[in-house]
Amino acid sequence: MTDVSSQGPRPDDQRAQLTNRQGHPVYDNQNQRTVGSRGPATLENYQFLEKISHFDRERIPERVVHARGATSYGYFEAYGKWGDEPVNRYTRAKLFQEAGKRTDIALRFSTVIGGRDSSEAARDPRGFAIKFYTEDGNWDLVGNDLAVFFIRDAIKFPDVIHALKPDPVTFRQDPNRIFDFMSQSPESMHMIVNLFSPRGIPADYRHMQGFGVNTYKWVNAEGETVLVKYTWMPKQGVRSMTEEDAANVQAGDLGHATKDLHDAIERGEYPEWELLVQMMSDDEHPELDFDPLDDTKTWPEQDFPPRPVGRLVLDRNVGNQFAENEQISFGTGVLVDGLDFSDDKMLVGRTFSYSDTQRYRVGPNYLQLPVNQAKGSGVNTNQRDGLMTYHQDKGGENPHVNYEPSINGGLREAQFPTYDEQGPEITGRLTRKRIQRTNDYKQAGQRYCLMERWEQDDLVNNFINQLSQCDRPIQERMVWHFLLVDDDLGLRVGEGLGISPGDVAQLEPLQSQTLTEEDRDRLANLG
Ligand code: HEM
Repeated sequence: MTDVSSQGPRPDDQRAQLTNRQGHPVYDNQNQRTVGSRGPATLENYQFLEKISHFDRERIPERVVHARGATSYGYFEAYGKWGDEPVNRYTRAKLFQEAGKRTDIALRFSTVIGGRDSSEAARDPRGFAIKFYTEDGNWDLVGNDLAVFFIRDAIKFPDVIHALKPDPVTFRQDPNRIFDFMSQSPESMHMIVNLFSPRGIPADYRHMQGFGVNTYKWVNAEGETVLVKYTWMPKQGVRSMTEEDAANVQAGDLGHATKDLHDAIERGEYPEWELLVQMMSDDEHPELDFDPLDDTKTWPEQDFPPRPVGRLVLDRNVGNQFAENEQISFGTGVLVDGLDFSDDKMLVGRTFSYSDTQRYRVGPNYLQLPVNQAKGSGVNTNQRDGLMTYHQDKGGENPHVNYEPSINGGLREAQFPTYDEQGPEITGRLTRKRIQRTNDYKQAGQRYCLMERWEQDDLVNNFINQLSQCDRPIQERMVWHFLLVDDDLGLRVGEGLGISPGDVAQLEPLQSQTLTEEDRDRLANLG
């Protein structure tokens, strides 16, 4: 019998030598150290124990949502304008100012509900998260492909996700649980009309739109603020799949979208998106029938025209999935000067949740990892230590001073801006109340009417298919909602389930909803 360990490399083998993580050469990677060739093994077997115990820790918790994703790198190039106007009229954010100015970016696309190895052909919103490595530090814009969301208050997020994730007993995604939740949450109508239409299964990541979804602010040099929404339009066009297309794709490959993106970039076909920005003055807009801070609404394009401000190109793949795709960490709190939050109740909740989960998922020093580091600006803090500290933040000229204030050469505060923010003044009582202008059905109905007939057919069939697996009271409540969204949608889904408007006319509105005049008229006509 040949003893592998005794063979050693051939004298002409030029490859790099295998070592352990202490830099010690590994002479035998095939056999543990044992007493005699049949064992037992010994506990001082450092090389083996190091190797196996590192392997035991190879996985970190996957993201609680958006676990499956694909990251690529590229750049954002500014136009210096918002449409025809100089962009500095509205924002002082440096990355937007100069025409042709490029900022490095990383973009992570994702699905939401499945685990790390789940199908990329699932009916599911897609994540569209961008990290801009700007000279003023990082800016993360963490959005999706459907423009709106299921809920408008962050306190409902764990519930909506639990309803969409697999059943805790059977571990199967269950339409009865999903529509149980949605039927009791009328604010989800706009989102589900999108999600169950062909748009709910994008053909791949290159052929889909992206949206910031939440309302943010731009701030100019005078401190004046405007409300903004972001849209990414793919130069490649928008393509979607039917259920049948998706079934065929996932029969052959669960990761077709990651592969498509990776291969296109390797071929030199760099995907590109244009960034469009909608804007409105920073106030409550009582003239609108929706609240500008409500993420279940889009802003009508005729009233708030989306204007281009730049383009984004992806031209480089990651070198390592784990380091760059699994550990990349985005958050809605990551803004640069000239960009700001709005009081959108989802945005505030999100802003806490992202860095909280990343401290748990990746570790308290997740911002020291190369993919997350602010590359364009310096990082000097008095935060120290913690698990896996790598970067030695020396602070100011005196490394003994890791506190502030100090007269001994520590870090000083940045120069405060000379302007004051000019946004609205807000007063109010602490309370727990839903917003007034909920208007849950109108935009969902408009969306349905804008669809082509085949898209409407697909939507209706998908709803019938899903709802036929649900309990009768859930079916009835959903038909009731659909009749408020649009007559045609409600009648067709109802017909497919054997439910007429008369069958649901006696249902009372939910306690958790406010109906508009128009909704009440529709209800009155149901009987
Ligand atoms: C990922 C929370 C709403 C888009 C995540 C993660 C959490 C989270 C905990 C995992 C992050 C990580 O492990 O690194 C929340 C909460 C929300 C909310 C609490 C509502 C209150 C939304 C909305 C959007 C969105 C409305 C779309 C506009 C994303 C995206 C990712 C993500 C794209 C994946 C980021 C990546 O690729 O790493 N969210 N989310 N989320 N969320 Fe949300």
